[in-house]
Amino acid sequence: MNNQRLAGQTAWISGAASGIGAATARLFAAEGACVVLVDVQADLGKSLEIEILSEGGAAMFIECDLASEKAIASSIRQTIDKFDGLQIIVNCAGVTKFKPLHEFSSEEWDHIMGVNLKSQFLSVKHAIPHLRKAQRSYVVNIGSISCFVGDEGESVYSVSKGGVMMLSKSIALEYAADGLRCNCICPGITDTPMLRHHLSTTTDPDRTLAERMRRTPTGVCVQPKDIAKTALFLSCEDSSGITGTHIVVDGGLLAAAEWQSPAQTAFMVQNHEKHTHETKALLR
Ligand SMILES: NC(=O)c1ccc[n+]([C@@H]2O[C@H](COP(=O)([O-])OP(=O)(O)OC[C@H]3O[C@@H](n4cnc5c(N)ncnc54)[C@H](O)[C@@H]3O)[C@@H](O)[C@H]2O)c1
Repeated sequence: MNNQRLAGQTAWISGAASGIGAATARLFAAEGACVVLVDVQADLGKSLEIEILSEGGAAMFIECDLASEKAIASSIRQTIDKFDGLQIIVNCAGVTKFKPLHEFSSEEWDHIMGVNLKSQFLSVKHAIPHLRKAQRSYVVNIGSISCFVGDEGESVYSVSKGGVMMLSKSIALEYAADGLRCNCICPGITDTPMLRHHLSTTTDPDRTLAERMRRTPTGVCVQPKDIAKTALFLSCEDSSGITGTHIVVDGGLLAAAEWQSPAQTAFMVQNHEKHTHETKALLR
């Protein structure tokens, strides 16, 4: 069941081929939006486009490397050509790399900052003339708990996410008078291919994940659809009046300076089983 809360709206979603972006695209399409799926992963993006179309939704995949301003500008033009308007931007694409700060090359710095932060500026820059035409428009930037706390080995990613928070406030202020609201979502440990890829680089992925979950008060991973639901809330008038701020979706992780879950509760076991099933489907 859905409420068609996004009927008549077009949403440009970066990083839409996978994880949080894909969950957001599915939910927005089910809520009646025309969704523009922007990503470098053509196979995954195309198959999501086919899936949404086959369910009666409206979707268009655009292969786009967000490191290129030209490609971003072109994706906005294609959006207008196809759907004749643009009301929602969800900047979700992201990359990370783990190593000590001094081992990063300046090219690696530029790439992470380019995809995670600069692409959010560029999508808004090129979309603004169209967003301004709408009575109401929405920008949702995906940040991270790294907007607030550092993580050893993930310095460049953390710097980029700190920037996402301030970019979101700046967009909110500059375009508030045009009816545009901009907010940032800060996910905690979320079960996506990005997380699974990172875990696979550790010696014992299951153990690494279990250790992280012990630091999370709910004891379970955030799911991509949890973030998608928050993005939906921030992309319609359910969130009227909210702009220039953030919503943390982290299972309570940032609420405690230290946390050690006591044991597996019935809640954790149930959710682990449910989510393991969902994650397998996601990774297929
Ligand atoms: N998974 C987590 O635990 C977690 C936690 C906090 C924040 N986030 C953030 O959530 C967002 C989505 O991440 P996810 O976990 O769904 O990861 P994901 O890897 O599943 O999805 C990221 C998407 O971004 C796309 N992308 C990467 N570089 C690109 C480029 N140059 N051009 C176009 N597309 C590109 C990828 O192809 C991929 O489809 C990211 O901004 C990430 O930083 C994730």
